[in-house]
Amino acid sequence: MSNKTEQNLAYAFAAESKASARNSVFAVKAEQDGFPQIARLFRAVAEAESVHARRYLRLMRGKIGTTEENLKTAFENEIKANVEEYPALIKTASEDGLEVVKKAFSESRDVEDRHAQLYKKALNDLLSDRIASYYVCQICGYVAEDQTPQRCPVCSAISEKFKQTE
Ligand SMILES: [Fe+2]
Ligand SMILES: [Fe+2]
Repeated sequence: MSNKTEQNLAYAFAAESKASARNSVFAVKAEQDGFPQIARLFRAVAEAESVHARRYLRLMRGKIGTTEENLKTAFENEIKANVEEYPALIKTASEDGLEVVKKAFSESRDVEDRHAQLYKKALNDLLSDRIASYYVCQICGYVAEDQTPQRCPVCSAISEKFKQTE
């Protein structure tokens, strides 16, 4: 595969991932504006863009390893986001006096550390047959294990804001 095609796959993966997230937010807005049918369309296209993104990622070389390798990669990405990436974003938002943006970045930084710990635990448990269930805070992305907390430990959202994943 040429370098150019490799770059194009990476570009298309990023663009489709963004389009999927964007359409999901458009769907929520359409719902709020009283257009449930339009919301359904945005959700359907969001899912379709996500199909594209996953397809491209699978075609990119060296991105998908064994499950043990993938857990390590996921762990390292979370640590990098927590230690290297978010702190710089938080600093700039703070300098700009944008408290709402700073709060969003800060909560995400804290949540990435939690994600990293969950991956680490899963790596250690890889060969055990422990079954965990997971609940995701729809405000900040904190992942709770086995039960929803009364309040999200990162953003204080109430337990009803947690969604169980399959
Ligand atoms: Fe994360
Ligand atoms: Fe939260």
